[in-house]
Amino acid sequence: MTPLLEVRGIDKSFGPVKVLHEVEFSAYPGEVTALVGDNGAGKSTLVKCIGGIYPIDSGQIFFDGRQVTVHTPRDAGELGIEIVYQDLALCDNLDIVQNMFLGRERKNGFLLDEDSMEELAEKTLSSLSVRTVKSIRQQVSSLSGGQRQTVAIAKAVLWNSKVVILDEPTAALGVAQTAQVLELVRRLADTGLAVVLISHNMNDVFAVSDRIAALYLGRMAAQVKTADVTHAQVVELITSGRSGELGLKNGVTS
Ligand SMILES: Nc1ncnc2c1ncn2[C@@H]1O[C@H](COP(=O)(O)OP(=O)(O)O)[C@@H](O)[C@H]1O
Ligand SMILES: [Mg+2]
Repeated sequence: MTPLLEVRGIDKSFGPVKVLHEVEFSAYPGEVTALVGDNGAGKSTLVKCIGGIYPIDSGQIFFDGRQVTVHTPRDAGELGIEIVYQDLALCDNLDIVQNMFLGRERKNGFLLDEDSMEELAEKTLSSLSVRTVKSIRQQVSSLSGGQRQTVAIAKAVLWNSKVVILDEPTAALGVAQTAQVLELVRRLADTGLAVVLISHNMNDVFAVSDRIAALYLGRMAAQVKTADVTHAQVVELITSGRSGELGLKNGVTS
Protein backbone atom coordinates (compact mmCIF):
# COMPACT_ATOMS: atom_id res chain seq x y z
CA MET A 1 0.00 0.00 0.00
CA THR A 2 1.32 3.47 -0.91
CA PRO A 3 1.37 5.88 2.01
CA LEU A 4 -0.80 8.94 1.46
CA LEU A 5 1.77 10.99 3.34
CA GLU A 6 5.42 10.12 3.62
CA VAL A 7 8.42 12.10 4.80
CA ARG A 8 12.02 11.03 4.33
CA GLY A 9 15.19 12.27 5.93
CA ILE A 10 13.70 15.35 7.58
CA ASP A 11 16.21 17.47 9.46
CA LYS A 12 15.20 20.52 11.44
CA SER A 13 17.19 22.79 13.71
CA PHE A 14 16.25 25.86 15.68
CA GLY A 15 19.50 27.85 15.70
CA PRO A 16 22.16 25.55 17.10
CA VAL A 17 19.65 23.04 18.46
CA LYS A 18 18.90 20.11 16.19
CA VAL A 19 15.37 18.94 16.92
CA LEU A 20 14.73 16.44 14.09
CA HIS A 21 17.32 13.99 12.79
CA GLU A 22 16.64 12.32 9.43
CA VAL A 23 13.08 11.53 10.38
CA GLU A 24 11.08 9.04 8.29
CA PHE A 25 7.35 8.82 8.75
CA SER A 26 4.39 7.43 6.79
CA ALA A 27 0.62 7.60 7.13
CA TYR A 28 -1.74 5.34 5.19
CA PRO A 29 -5.29 5.88 3.92
CA GLY A 30 -7.99 4.30 6.06
CA GLU A 31 -5.66 4.04 9.03
CA VAL A 32 -4.93 5.84 12.26
CA THR A 33 -1.21 6.27 12.77
CA ALA A 34 -0.27 7.21 16.31
CA LEU A 35 2.76 9.47 16.63
CA VAL A 36 4.16 8.99 20.11
CA GLY A 37 7.16 10.27 22.04
CA ASP A 38 8.09 11.97 25.26
CA ASN A 39 7.67 15.71 25.82
CA GLY A 40 10.21 17.47 23.64
CA ALA A 41 10.76 14.48 21.33
CA GLY A 42 9.85 16.62 18.33
CA LYS A 43 6.28 15.52 17.54
CA SER A 44 4.81 19.00 17.18
CA THR A 45 7.86 20.21 15.26
CA LEU A 46 7.54 17.34 12.77
CA VAL A 47 3.89 18.15 12.25
CA LYS A 48 4.61 21.85 11.78
CA CYS A 49 7.21 20.97 9.15
CA ILE A 50 4.62 18.86 7.32
CA GLY A 51 2.08 21.67 7.65
CA GLY A 52 4.34 24.36 6.20
CA ILE A 53 4.64 26.31 9.46
CA TYR A 54 8.39 25.63 9.75
CA PRO A 55 10.71 25.23 6.76
CA ILE A 56 12.67 21.98 6.78
CA ASP A 57 16.46 22.08 6.59
CA SER A 58 16.60 18.95 4.43
CA GLY A 59 14.51 15.95 3.50
CA GLN A 60 11.53 15.23 1.28
CA ILE A 61 7.76 15.14 1.59
CA PHE A 62 5.68 12.84 -0.59
CA PHE A 63 1.93 13.03 -1.05
CA ASP A 64 0.24 10.04 -2.64
CA GLY A 65 3.62 8.89 -3.97
CA ARG A 66 4.47 12.25 -5.53
CA GLN A 67 7.19 14.51 -4.15
CA VAL A 68 5.75 17.86 -3.10
CA THR A 69 6.98 21.12 -1.66
CA VAL A 70 5.17 22.58 1.32
CA HIS A 71 6.35 26.10 2.06
CA THR A 72 3.20 27.50 3.63
CA PRO A 73 0.10 26.25 5.45
CA ARG A 74 -1.79 27.09 2.26
CA ASP A 75 0.37 24.61 0.30
CA ALA A 76 -0.48 21.92 2.84
CA GLY A 77 -4.17 22.81 2.70
CA GLU A 78 -4.23 22.63 -1.07
CA LEU A 79 -2.78 19.12 -0.96
CA GLY A 80 -5.51 18.10 1.48
CA ILE A 81 -3.40 18.03 4.63
CA GLU A 82 -5.28 19.52 7.58
CA ILE A 83 -3.62 19.91 10.93
CA VAL A 84 -5.35 20.54 14.23
CA TYR A 85 -2.56 22.21 16.19
CA GLN A 86 -2.03 21.75 19.88
CA ASP A 87 -1.58 25.47 20.45
CA LEU A 88 -3.61 27.34 17.84
CA ALA A 89 -6.64 25.31 16.89
CA LEU A 90 -9.60 27.70 17.04
CA CYS A 91 -10.43 31.38 17.59
CA ASP A 92 -12.24 31.89 20.89
CA ASN A 93 -14.03 35.07 19.88
CA LEU A 94 -15.65 33.57 16.78
CA ASP A 95 -18.59 31.19 16.54
CA ILE A 96 -18.48 27.66 15.18
CA VAL A 97 -19.41 28.56 11.60
CA GLN A 98 -16.90 31.42 11.51
CA ASN A 99 -14.18 29.11 12.77
CA MET A 100 -14.94 26.38 10.26
CA PHE A 101 -14.79 28.84 7.34
CA LEU A 102 -12.02 31.07 8.68
CA GLY A 103 -9.92 32.34 5.77
CA ARG A 104 -12.08 30.42 3.30
CA GLU A 105 -15.39 32.25 3.68
CA ARG A 106 -18.10 31.82 1.10
CA LYS A 107 -19.23 34.97 -0.63
CA ASN A 108 -22.41 35.96 -2.37
CA GLY A 109 -21.32 38.95 -4.41
CA PHE A 110 -19.62 41.24 -1.87
CA LEU A 111 -21.43 39.75 1.10
CA LEU A 112 -20.70 36.66 3.12
CA ASP A 113 -23.01 33.82 2.26
CA GLU A 114 -23.98 33.05 5.86
CA ASP A 115 -26.85 30.72 4.94
CA SER A 116 -24.79 28.38 2.83
CA MET A 117 -21.93 28.36 5.34
CA GLU A 118 -24.33 27.54 8.17
CA GLU A 119 -25.94 24.79 6.16
CA LEU A 120 -22.62 23.19 5.26
CA ALA A 121 -21.29 23.46 8.81
CA GLU A 122 -24.47 21.84 10.12
CA LYS A 123 -24.31 19.07 7.53
CA THR A 124 -20.67 18.30 8.29
CA LEU A 125 -21.25 18.09 12.03
CA SER A 126 -24.23 15.80 11.62
CA SER A 127 -22.37 13.62 9.10
CA LEU A 128 -19.90 13.02 11.93
CA SER A 129 -22.79 12.25 14.28
CA VAL A 130 -21.90 15.24 16.42
CA ARG A 131 -24.96 15.98 18.51
CA THR A 132 -23.47 17.61 21.56
CA VAL A 133 -23.23 21.11 20.10
CA LYS A 134 -26.33 23.20 20.88
CA SER A 135 -25.99 25.89 18.25
CA ILE A 136 -23.46 26.40 15.50
CA ARG A 137 -23.71 30.13 16.20
CA GLN A 138 -22.28 29.54 19.65
CA GLN A 139 -18.95 31.25 20.38
CA VAL A 140 -16.14 28.77 20.57
CA SER A 141 -15.10 30.20 23.96
CA SER A 142 -18.30 28.70 25.42
CA LEU A 143 -17.52 25.14 24.23
CA SER A 144 -16.06 22.35 26.31
CA GLY A 145 -12.64 20.95 25.42
CA GLY A 146 -14.15 17.95 23.70
CA GLN A 147 -16.54 20.08 21.68
CA ARG A 148 -13.67 22.30 20.56
CA GLN A 149 -11.75 19.29 19.30
CA THR A 150 -14.87 18.11 17.54
CA VAL A 151 -15.30 21.43 15.76
CA ALA A 152 -11.63 21.47 14.78
CA ILE A 153 -11.95 17.95 13.36
CA ALA A 154 -15.20 18.81 11.58
CA LYS A 155 -13.40 21.74 9.97
CA ALA A 156 -10.85 19.33 8.55
CA VAL A 157 -13.63 17.14 7.18
CA LEU A 158 -15.48 20.12 5.71
CA TRP A 159 -12.45 20.98 3.60
CA ASN A 160 -12.24 17.52 2.09
CA SER A 161 -8.94 16.78 3.69
CA LYS A 162 -7.19 13.55 2.84
CA VAL A 163 -4.75 13.63 5.71
CA VAL A 164 -5.82 14.87 9.13
CA ILE A 165 -3.20 15.36 11.82
CA LEU A 166 -4.32 15.89 15.40
CA ASP A 167 -1.75 17.14 17.90
CA GLU A 168 -2.69 15.80 21.33
CA PRO A 169 -6.45 16.27 20.89
CA THR A 170 -7.30 14.51 24.13
CA ALA A 171 -4.61 16.02 26.35
CA ALA A 172 -7.00 18.30 28.23
CA LEU A 173 -10.09 16.12 28.13
CA GLY A 174 -11.96 14.02 30.66
CA VAL A 175 -12.78 10.36 30.20
CA ALA A 176 -16.12 10.70 28.40
CA GLN A 177 -14.92 13.48 26.10
CA THR A 178 -11.78 11.53 25.27
CA ALA A 179 -13.87 8.54 24.28
CA GLN A 180 -15.98 10.76 22.00
CA VAL A 181 -12.97 12.28 20.28
CA LEU A 182 -11.32 8.87 19.82
CA GLU A 183 -14.50 7.51 18.32
CA LEU A 184 -14.52 10.42 15.89
CA VAL A 185 -10.86 9.78 15.05
CA ARG A 186 -11.69 6.16 14.23
CA ARG A 187 -14.67 7.16 12.10
CA LEU A 188 -12.53 9.58 10.10
CA ALA A 189 -10.07 6.83 9.24
CA ASP A 190 -12.89 4.45 8.39
CA THR A 191 -14.05 6.92 5.71
CA GLY A 192 -10.65 6.48 4.01
CA LEU A 193 -8.67 9.39 5.40
CA ALA A 194 -5.14 9.00 6.69
CA VAL A 195 -5.33 10.13 10.29
CA VAL A 196 -2.31 10.93 12.43
CA LEU A 197 -2.95 11.04 16.17
CA ILE A 198 -0.31 12.50 18.43
CA SER A 199 -0.72 11.25 21.95
CA HIS A 200 1.24 9.99 24.86
CA ASN A 201 -1.64 8.13 26.39
CA MET A 202 -1.00 4.44 25.74
CA ASN A 203 -4.64 3.53 26.29
CA ASP A 204 -5.75 5.98 23.60
CA VAL A 205 -3.02 4.80 21.26
CA PHE A 206 -3.91 1.14 21.60
CA ALA A 207 -7.64 1.80 21.51
CA VAL A 208 -7.64 3.54 18.16
CA SER A 209 -4.43 3.16 16.13
CA ASP A 210 -3.43 0.77 13.36
CA ARG A 211 0.22 1.80 13.44
CA ILE A 212 2.53 3.45 15.89
CA ALA A 213 5.51 5.69 15.12
CA ALA A 214 7.75 6.43 18.09
CA LEU A 215 10.02 9.47 18.15
CA TYR A 216 12.92 9.51 20.57
CA LEU A 217 15.02 12.68 20.96
CA GLY A 218 14.15 13.78 17.44
CA ARG A 219 14.84 10.39 15.84
CA MET A 220 12.25 7.94 14.56
CA ALA A 221 12.94 4.95 16.79
CA ALA A 222 10.43 2.61 15.14
CA GLN A 223 7.26 2.43 13.08
CA VAL A 224 5.26 -0.69 13.76
CA LYS A 225 1.81 -2.14 13.44
CA THR A 226 -0.07 -1.71 16.68
CA ALA A 227 -1.07 -5.38 16.65
CA ASP A 228 2.62 -6.40 16.65
CA VAL A 229 3.66 -4.64 19.87
CA THR A 230 2.76 -4.47 23.53
CA HIS A 231 2.18 -1.41 25.72
CA ALA A 232 5.46 -2.17 27.48
CA GLN A 233 7.41 -2.21 24.22
CA VAL A 234 6.00 1.12 23.13
CA VAL A 235 6.78 2.66 26.51
CA GLU A 236 10.35 1.39 26.15
CA LEU A 237 10.63 2.89 22.66
CA ILE A 238 9.41 6.21 24.02
CA THR A 239 11.69 6.26 27.04
CA SER A 240 14.88 4.73 25.63
CA GLY A 241 14.50 4.67 21.84
CA ARG A 242 14.69 0.89 21.69
CA SER A 243 13.02 -2.27 22.84
CA GLY A 244 14.72 -5.58 22.14
CA GLU A 245 15.12 -5.91 18.38
CA LEU A 246 13.08 -2.78 17.78
CA GLY A 247 14.35 0.76 17.73
CA LEU A 248 17.58 2.65 17.35
CA LYS A 249 20.61 0.42 17.10
CA ASN A 250 23.47 2.72 17.95
CA GLY A 251 23.93 4.79 21.04
CA VAL A 252 22.19 8.08 20.49
CA THR A 253 23.79 11.30 21.55
CA SER A 254 21.50 14.28 21.62
N1 LIG B 1 10.12 27.50 17.85
C1 LIG B 1 11.06 26.84 18.54
N2 LIG B 1 12.28 27.42 18.78
C2 LIG B 1 13.25 26.76 19.45
N3 LIG B 1 13.12 25.50 19.93
C3 LIG B 1 11.95 24.89 19.72
C4 LIG B 1 10.87 25.51 19.02
N4 LIG B 1 9.83 24.63 18.98
C5 LIG B 1 10.24 23.53 19.60
N5 LIG B 1 11.50 23.66 20.06
C6 LIG B 1 12.28 22.64 20.78
O1 LIG B 1 12.24 21.47 19.99
C7 LIG B 1 12.12 20.32 20.81
C8 LIG B 1 10.92 19.52 20.37
O2 LIG B 1 9.74 20.21 20.71
P1 LIG B 1 8.30 19.73 20.26
O3 LIG B 1 8.32 19.46 18.80
O4 LIG B 1 7.33 20.73 20.75
O5 LIG B 1 8.16 18.37 21.06
P2 LIG B 1 6.86 17.50 21.41
O6 LIG B 1 5.72 18.03 20.60
O7 LIG B 1 7.25 16.10 21.05
O8 LIG B 1 6.65 17.64 22.88
C9 LIG B 1 12.05 20.81 22.24
O9 LIG B 1 13.34 20.69 22.80
C10 LIG B 1 11.66 22.24 22.09
O10 LIG B 1 12.15 23.02 23.15
MG1 LIG C 1 3.85 18.82 21.19
